Amino acid sequence: RHTILLGAPIQTGASQPGCIMGPQSLRTAGLAKIIEDLGWQVSDRGDLTITPQRPTPHPNAAIHHLAETRAWIDTVREAALAAGRDCDLPVFMGGDHSMAAGTLPAMAARAAEAGRPLFVLWLDAHPDLHSLDSTESGNLHGTPMAYALGLPGFGSAYPANAHPLDPANVCMMGIRSVDRAEAKRILETGIEVHDMRAIDETGVIAPLKAFLARVAAANGMLHVSFDVDFLDPSFAPAVGTTVPGGATFREAHLILEMVGDSGLATSLDLVELNPFLDERGRTARVLCDFTASLFGRRVLDRQTRSY
Ligand code: ARG
Ligand code: MN
Ligand code: MN
Ligand code: MN
Repeated sequence: RHTILLGAPIQTGASQPGCIMGPQSLRTAGLAKIIEDLGWQVSDRGDLTITPQRPTPHPNAAIHHLAETRAWIDTVREAALAAGRDCDLPVFMGGDHSMAAGTLPAMAARAAEAGRPLFVLWLDAHPDLHSLDSTESGNLHGTPMAYALGLPGFGSAYPANAHPLDPANVCMMGIRSVDRAEAKRILETGIEVHDMRAIDETGVIAPLKAFLARVAAANGMLHVSFDVDFLDPSFAPAVGTTVPGGATFREAHLILEMVGDSGLATSLDLVELNPFLDERGRTARVLCDFTASLFGRRVLDRQTRSY
């Protein structure tokens, strides 16, 4: 089996700089070798870039870096689609979560080519369901899910989305910071949201099993979008939007192992890693560990590691 690593060093969607170093931090933590050691063929396609952009105005004055975000969406979508065609399970290394405004439509296009539905497992403290009209922070990493679903409020400021996701095929876990406009959209779309309260009550196994069974029954493709702030900041501090009360190491590990066991995953986003905020690389290493779980590492065949 073959994976392609693709870097998208985007930081213009976040409030503070640092995510530009995300892909290099994951490489430094040994992501390629870790996946190779699990028996996969790994190709690193390096990092995407965009050309300098002239600012584009928007009626919502809070918005910043709109032109850059638009350019990244086009660049990421094209390269992600190519990577999706060329391997079994591409890993998109962000970059802030605005990257998913490129990867989600690309994977939806890929699924349409294959004649299969696309499902999305969204692991995040936030639903990222803002439109350009509703965002109050103006940080565009808060918008990719709304755009991917084809929801209104983007006008022609983002590229047209030719392959909108079906909200019935999205499962969110770890949610614990939701703005008012986003809460409204969760209710309107009926997206399956397992917030931290729900996870406290049911654990992760039952809802994840049910979701994976739906994916399997539909012969779906499955994109996993992993935002670092899904994790509790006590062991994953390298993120600009920390929210207390996140997934524990055990919960995240179990989720990624169960997804790995299912064999259903067909693409992965690793986003919001801000190495400038990390402590001796621990967050990058933890992300590599969870990625290894998805790619098949299990306790009884794990290599000895030095930390
Ligand atoms: N909802 C908040 C906002 O729109 C936070 C978004 C955080 N998104 C993320 N990808 N970390 O500003
Ligand atoms: Mn996010
Ligand atoms: Mn198409
Ligand atoms: Mn988040």
